[in-house]
Amino acid sequence: MLGRLNHVAIAVPDLEAAAGAYRDKLGATVSAPLPQPAHGVTVVFVDVENTRIELINPLGENSPIAGFLAKNPAGGIHHLCFEVEDILAARDLLKAAGLRVLGDGEPKIGAHDKPVLFLHPKDLNGTLVELQQA
Ligand code: CO
Repeated sequence: MLGRLNHVAIAVPDLEAAAGAYRDKLGATVSAPLPQPAHGVTVVFVDVENTRIELINPLGENSPIAGFLAKNPAGGIHHLCFEVEDILAARDLLKAAGLRVLGDGEPKIGAHDKPVLFLHPKDLNGTLVELQQA
């Protein structure tokens, strides 16, 4: 069911410092910061050969990653995103397998303008997993 790894999202307390580390120290190609008010984050995309890293920083008062950064003030891996061919079929299979889908279970339009869902981290070894329609 799982397709390619679309991205790894890293919550960071200082977006410019994090982007600078990937750009200047690791030699990666990084995007300009992209505010995504609908998702409560500002994102910098880091392109690597086989996938993408998303550096995410809270935007606005009710950012969904504010709590994560409060618990992990230095930042940390926030979620993995895998592509799936058919997000509704994947959701139904995973629910039948006992995995919990966050929210109301309906896909939302994610950062890449494609439908996404998140799976409960307690069902996957403490890792928040995002599924994105390929
Ligand atoms: Co994501």
